[in-house]
Amino acid sequence: MTNISKKSAINNNESVVLLCGKNNSFNNYGLSKVEIDFIKNEINAKEKKSICLNQLHRLFIVQLIDVKKEKYQTTETLRKASSTVHGWITDAKVENITVVDADGKALETLAFAEGLALSNYQFLKYKKDRDKERNSLKSIAIVSKSLNAKQIEELNIVVEATCISRTLVNEPVNFLTATQLSKEFQKMGKEAGFNVEVFNKEKIKALKMGGLLAVNLGSIEPPTFSIMEYNPKNAKNKKQPIILVGKGVVYDTGGVSLKPTPNSMDMMKCDMAGSAAVVGTLYAIAKAKLPVYVIGLVPATDNRPGENAYVPGDVITMYNGMTVEMLNADAEGRMILADALAYAQKYNPKLVIDLATLTGAAVAAIGTSGIVAMGTADERTKNKLKQSGNAVFERLAEMPFWDDYDELIKSDIADMKNLGGPYAGSITAGKFLARYINYPWMHFDIAGPAFLTTKDNYRLKGGTGVGVRLLFDFLKNNA
Ligand code: BES
Ligand code: MN
Ligand code: ZN
Repeated sequence: MTNISKKSAINNNESVVLLCGKNNSFNNYGLSKVEIDFIKNEINAKEKKSICLNQLHRLFIVQLIDVKKEKYQTTETLRKASSTVHGWITDAKVENITVVDADGKALETLAFAEGLALSNYQFLKYKKDRDKERNSLKSIAIVSKSLNAKQIEELNIVVEATCISRTLVNEPVNFLTATQLSKEFQKMGKEAGFNVEVFNKEKIKALKMGGLLAVNLGSIEPPTFSIMEYNPKNAKNKKQPIILVGKGVVYDTGGVSLKPTPNSMDMMKCDMAGSAAVVGTLYAIAKAKLPVYVIGLVPATDNRPGENAYVPGDVITMYNGMTVEMLNADAEGRMILADALAYAQKYNPKLVIDLATLTGAAVAAIGTSGIVAMGTADERTKNKLKQSGNAVFERLAEMPFWDDYDELIKSDIADMKNLGGPYAGSITAGKFLARYINYPWMHFDIAGPAFLTTKDNYRLKGGTGVGVRLLFDFLKNNA
């Protein structure tokens, strides 16, 4: 993992990224006139925003801050630019880079360093020659008068948490079973300082979590239900927690409503990305010691078409006593989330946010560019979440949540069915979940951005860790 820290001054001969405006003189960095002319020509004649001067003993990189209409667009442009810069750093086998905030641009500097560290992520666990394949970059030092050590340490923490979340998503199910997932939560809780309790199958049966048990019927691996709790002494919401619920389907074959191969099943190890976002967020807020009481709930299982698997037509009694006519075994996410959302009621939460790779319809609606959002939280909370979404560039696209859609999940014989009509699939999934809440609630369908099949700048191929940076920002600013 790439360490990010604060430093007071540039040392001689070390590789540097100078973050500045295009009228910088470049006089103070020991460059020759030829070198300065080269940089100025790249900027003025060629209109380059990122310039790499390879002085052989070091790289001297200039990154212009290209001011856009909105601040969050400027910062995102810098995160993206960092991906190109990362390529230069890697090619030159640079191990330590110093990012210099020449113009006192705090947020811009953080964004650039963040993009650079996220671009440096790799998942090498299963590579025999992993030492040879490892990127050179080990640390990023920031020289800045506008940023304090705490701000930089928070960035370091949230980037680390995002990378851990990516790794959980990238782990295949032949390692990351539901049991293993909850063990990873326990390890992370110990390291960061939050409490983790794991319910086993027996306990889940005793609690009658019918949705989670039904999905698990086709699997030989037992389900788990994990409760993570971070409640610091100085929490601002001592009595009413904010609850994060994450879908923990460690693999989704579609069950007996089997997904067709090839293709549609290929990336389904990512179906626990919601849970990875939840634990990543708890890890980050605990390490950063944010004064906020947060609980994470993760129902986890794989979804398989084993011998006793639940089948279309089955009627399932859920944890809250409601019944569901199951009509598609591939609509498993809402079955397990419903039990977790109903369980959340006992905490009298201030706000519940669930994150789930829930529907292909969410991907069809907005692609991988953002998060499909809906829910019953008040407008102020929604706006705060949207602001955080813009700031970290994990944007929220709010869907309508009209009563009309409730009609589509009515069942002839049970309280509801787990399948909607041919359209508005992400909304009918949300409407299903809404039957299990009695508190302010938001549902984030992250099926699009959770896992990429091609690299998108600093969001690399594979798990993206989406949700961690968003929720950390929201909890930090609204504790
Ligand atoms: N895990 C999938 C959704 C998904 C699709 C995640 C693409 C990531 C990328 C979910 O369990 C699912 O299969 N949903 C079905 C629901 C349908 C049967 C109502 C879908 O969207 O097709
Ligand atoms: Mn499914
Ligand atoms: Zn699924």
